[in-house]
Amino acid sequence: MALVSMGPMLKRARAEGYGIAAYNMIDYNSARAIVEGAHSLDAPVIVQVSVKTVKHWGYTPIAHWVRDLASTVDVPVALHLDHCTDFDVLRRCVDAGWTSVMFDGSSLPFEENLEKSLQAYAMTEQAGVGLEAEIGAIGGVEDDKHVNEDDARLANFDECVRFVRDMPNLAVFAPAIGTAHGMYKGEAKIAYDLLERITKSISIPIALHGGTGLTEEQFHRCIAGGCAKVNISTMHKMLYVNSFVELKQQKPKLEEPLTFIATQNDAMKADVKSVISIFGSVGKASDARAAVMQRH
Ligand code: 13P
Repeated sequence: MALVSMGPMLKRARAEGYGIAAYNMIDYNSARAIVEGAHSLDAPVIVQVSVKTVKHWGYTPIAHWVRDLASTVDVPVALHLDHCTDFDVLRRCVDAGWTSVMFDGSSLPFEENLEKSLQAYAMTEQAGVGLEAEIGAIGGVEDDKHVNEDDARLANFDECVRFVRDMPNLAVFAPAIGTAHGMYKGEAKIAYDLLERITKSISIPIALHGGTGLTEEQFHRCIAGGCAKVNISTMHKMLYVNSFVELKQQKPKLEEPLTFIATQNDAMKADVKSVISIFGSVGKASDARAAVMQRH
């Protein structure tokens, strides 16, 4: 299939009560593990890319890899840009073929975040791609963004309502609800009451950031509470590195790079499959495809 925009499939996922995995890809091998893992379970999936990764590989190679991978499967695959504060990067991704982007103005004062998010919204609406926008401050480390525990801040409910008011087509809304990027020190304290208040008043699908380390029960509660896009990055990166290193430790004489790459791919794919199974999106490809088609 051609790459799809995530908005319509996330709307459907929220309505049907399942979550769509959004994995941060690292390179071609990782993007392939994400797409193949989803394909093997007949599930829709979002391949997302951090700004650092885009700058490392370049816009065109990433767009080509993911477009080619998507074209070999019949499950819907979206290509999304994760946390971005730079309008030039947003624009270049849109021009290169990304089907959605995230403008992250969460470190700005509310009014400024709103103003800039509205600018990003106008740009993406005109280009016909989806937008994700964030308020509050999600803790932890993602890409070059570090938010200390003390600076992490739950989204303010009234601000959430005001924030999305003039963005009716927002593909997905990311309010900080207590999850954090990276590994959790203890159990994540998720503000389910805030999530419930938000989803009662706002029909836009919600993005759950900081998926690594959440328990199955936490995933289920958040997805049932309206989180349709569930982000995983740290776990994927750990598997990428550890599977490679562990194989070399187990077989020091092994020198064939393709064997390492295949082992990495297997490890990442197994995780993608187990996550998709937890999120309830196994077999939902045709459901998501129908939602995408209705939009055209
Ligand atoms: P983790 O790194 O905690 O999985 O979070 C990923 C994320 O939310 C990317 O935006």
